[in-house]
Amino acid sequence: MTERLRLAVITTSVRDGRFGPVVTEWFTDQAASHGGFDVTTIDLAEVDLPHELPAAPPLFEPHPVRPAGMAEFTRVIGEADAIVLVVPEYNRSYPSSIKAAIDWHFTEWAGKAIGFVGYSGGSGGLLAIEGLRQVFNELDAHTVREYVSFPRYYLLFDENGKLHAPEEPAAAAATMLDRVHWWASALTAARSVPIAV
Ligand SMILES: Cc1cc2nc3c(=O)[nH]c(=O)nc-3n(C[C@H](O)[C@H](O)[C@H](O)COP(=O)(O)O)c2cc1C
Repeated sequence: MTERLRLAVITTSVRDGRFGPVVTEWFTDQAASHGGFDVTTIDLAEVDLPHELPAAPPLFEPHPVRPAGMAEFTRVIGEADAIVLVVPEYNRSYPSSIKAAIDWHFTEWAGKAIGFVGYSGGSGGLLAIEGLRQVFNELDAHTVREYVSFPRYYLLFDENGKLHAPEEPAAAAATMLDRVHWWASALTAARSVPIAV
């Protein structure tokens, strides 16, 4: 039987009129039917994410006093074995909301498997994803190679948020979830071993 792991799916776009929740809903269905995960969704639009970070860098103070409106987010990513970011591309990068959410945390990301679902215009969020891989390297998280990408998503989803041709994205999600599960399982075991610093 497949070991059930805790997966947090994060909607990273917070702007008015955003498309992100449609993609998150689609992906959450894929993750729930995968069978290997207990899935929790979390929306950065509902998280208090000030840009003013704590005075001490996270290496010196990994558990700073955080705003009360961030507590649920901190708890969910802290307890997760794996995290999937649903991320659009803004100016060839990721939204500042997810950078703030990342920078407010430290140990919560370490040793976790991270997957991506990207969407945007022509690039399908790939530049946002590649930028996030670099950030997560610094946090000792493992970003999984496989991903889901929706280039020109507005041509792919109908007005009810359903995909015109769901088979290929569903297959990409299943492959990515398999790999996220494999890495998360390995890393969950590894996290119990103290790491040399
Ligand atoms: C500030 C801004 C910058 C954008 N830059 C890019 C870009 O560099 N490449 C791209 O493919 N799409 C770009 N787009 C299009 C977005 O990916 C698209 O609007 C998408 O719907 C954004 O996700 P959201 O609706 O969930 O916020 C940009 C959109 C915004 C608002």
